Amino acid sequence: MDIIFATNNENKTREIRNILGSNINLLSLNDLNIHEDIPETEPTLEGNALQKARYIYEKVSRCVFADDTGLEIDMLDGLPGVNSARFAGENKDSEANIDKVLLMMADSERRSARFRTVIALVEGGKEYLFEGIVEGRITGERRGTGGFGYDPVFIPRGETRTFAEMPLDEKNRISHRAMAFEKLKTFLDNQSCCPEEDAV
Ligand code: IMP
Repeated sequence: MDIIFATNNENKTREIRNILGSNINLLSLNDLNIHEDIPETEPTLEGNALQKARYIYEKVSRCVFADDTGLEIDMLDGLPGVNSARFAGENKDSEANIDKVLLMMADSERRSARFRTVIALVEGGKEYLFEGIVEGRITGERRGTGGFGYDPVFIPRGETRTFAEMPLDEKNRISHRAMAFEKLKTFLDNQSCCPEEDAV
């Protein structure tokens, strides 16, 4: 089964290829020679994931999915949310993003937050959404050197370590992304979406 992941991030593609397994032939946009920026202008994770998947579907008319992830902090009314990558500015600086979060939450007792991943799958005339959530809390300062993004300040529920203090394979097993992609895998394994003969 061929399926297109609407991303040019090869690290992400490798991680997701492992989750989806060998029955699914995962193609990235690089594999299709599509190198342009995909629009991501919607106000929600769901909207952005659908926008990206639809955009690529319009171009290639093949089964495609896209994902979008955000950190939702309760004390900040869900921020940074859909703006997680660019919270402190257009240059997507993770260190500056963390500084901004820690400053906005300074002295706050209310530290609950979650990572949420939404995947949108577009095939034929149909669209499907899959969601993965990891509840947790925001630390008062950075801890750990692994992972990326907000990992040094996020402790998943039931843990004492931040994501950045866990070995990467451990984090990748329990992450919001893994949960959402496991749901996508179960869906794809149980139906004949995107048969090879549909491929151009
Ligand atoms: P994306 O939708 O996967 O590109 O994620 C958007 C932004 O959310 C990233 O640029 C990171 O700032 C943040 N983010 C997504 N996933 C994670 C994660 O697993 N750990 C920490 N930060 C993440």
